[in-house]
Amino acid sequence: MIEVCPLPELPPGEVAVVKTATGRIAVFNAGGELHALDDRCSHQEAYLSDGWLEGCEVECPLHGATFDLRTGHPTGLPATDPVRVHPVQVRNGLVYVDAEPQSSEPQSREPQSREPQSREEIR
Ligand code: FES
Repeated sequence: MIEVCPLPELPPGEVAVVKTATGRIAVFNAGGELHALDDRCSHQEAYLSDGWLEGCEVECPLHGATFDLRTGHPTGLPATDPVRVHPVQVRNGLVYVDAEPQSSEPQSREPQSREPQSREEIR
């Protein structure tokens, strides 16, 4: 887990960005709920952290695609591919994010049966 910031520095309606070895992650506070996504629109090159937060969605600042913060799935064109979602935790008043994306699949697999790299991991 990567430390993002103290929770008071991320009030509702705000976003914090952390840089990881594999890219930027944006952590949004949507009405008190924290959600983390890859900070890159799936349509073209734009930071979602520069976009607009409305409810549980973020609107890309470049062409206006919208994404559900809970799932990373696009909810408005022109983006059609999802962005990756990351687990977020608050511990001792600090916000942490997992650099590994959260799987959107049910967690019923055996631990030793690691799946091949997904297309989303190819950059
Ligand atoms: S870059 Fe985000 S909608 Fe085009």
